[in-house]
Amino acid sequence: MESPGPSAAGPEPPGRAEPAVGLERCVTGIEGLDNILGGGIPRGNTVLIAGSVGTGKTTLSLEFLLRGAERGERSLFLSVTEASDKLVQNLSTFEFFRTDLVVDGKLVFVDLPVLYEKLGLESEELSSEELDILVRTIRDLVRSLGIKRLVLDSLTSLCYRIRKDEQIREFVLRLGEEMSACDCTSVLVSEITPTQGRYSTRGVEEAIVDGIILLWNARRRGDIHRVLQIVKMRGSAHSHAQYVIELTPIGILMTPHLKGARADEEG
Ligand SMILES: Nc1ncnc2c1ncn2[C@@H]1O[C@H](COP(=O)(O)OP(=O)(O)OP(=O)(O)O)[C@@H](O)[C@H]1O
Ligand SMILES: [Mg+2]
Repeated sequence: MESPGPSAAGPEPPGRAEPAVGLERCVTGIEGLDNILGGGIPRGNTVLIAGSVGTGKTTLSLEFLLRGAERGERSLFLSVTEASDKLVQNLSTFEFFRTDLVVDGKLVFVDLPVLYEKLGLESEELSSEELDILVRTIRDLVRSLGIKRLVLDSLTSLCYRIRKDEQIREFVLRLGEEMSACDCTSVLVSEITPTQGRYSTRGVEEAIVDGIILLWNARRRGDIHRVLQIVKMRGSAHSHAQYVIELTPIGILMTPHLKGARADEEG
């Protein structure tokens, strides 16, 4: 199969996108990604990182935040499932990780279950009022700390507690608007299965977000490669080419996924 998404375009000659005039960019710090995005994600945009298990969603998100913190942009990781101390441990595998960024509060971790408890959001299903409280709490946190990069890992886990599609739509829309108003660029992690045929669990999230970065596993002669493709990025004339990504101690490396190397793929 080509890529697991519903409308992911076929291969194009990989290339460097021309920087769009007029849009300020949030430089991801991941060189290959910035090259294909014409300098980075348009600042204030909300991007979905969609992929199946183990494709590197959390690693990509963490590098995005770490590179931001290094540049002086305060960054916030909202974790739904993984405990912060474990995430910091994972970060220490990056050669460029600096503990002082965490100690000095340039890189902030918040466990969402702790926030739920503080806010009294303990019911199995979150009501519209409770979702509103959650959005306002995140906004206040982002405002008061001057956060410029936000990651929610994962939106999927949060959505398990939301019953109606309209509520998910409203939550993603409002969160995106609030973050944009704070000049904060957001990454929402979406866990999908290779055969799902869409980029988010309920399908409503992907239409609202400004961008979608798709990750999947491609098998070739017994080896598994991780592949990345930009599906959409409002405000960027980006390439739809596929890139093999490597998670290395010096960060994520991207190389074009060549046509001849696409045999035996899986999602
Ligand atoms: N710094 C690193 N260097 C090399 N390999 C790494 C590094 N970090 C993670 N990996 C490898 O990448 C795999 C997936 O990483 P990651 O946790 O980012 O994926 P994910 O898509 O978030 O997974 P999940 O769906 O389970 O949340 C890990 O199982 C690990 O083998
Ligand atoms: Mg993860």
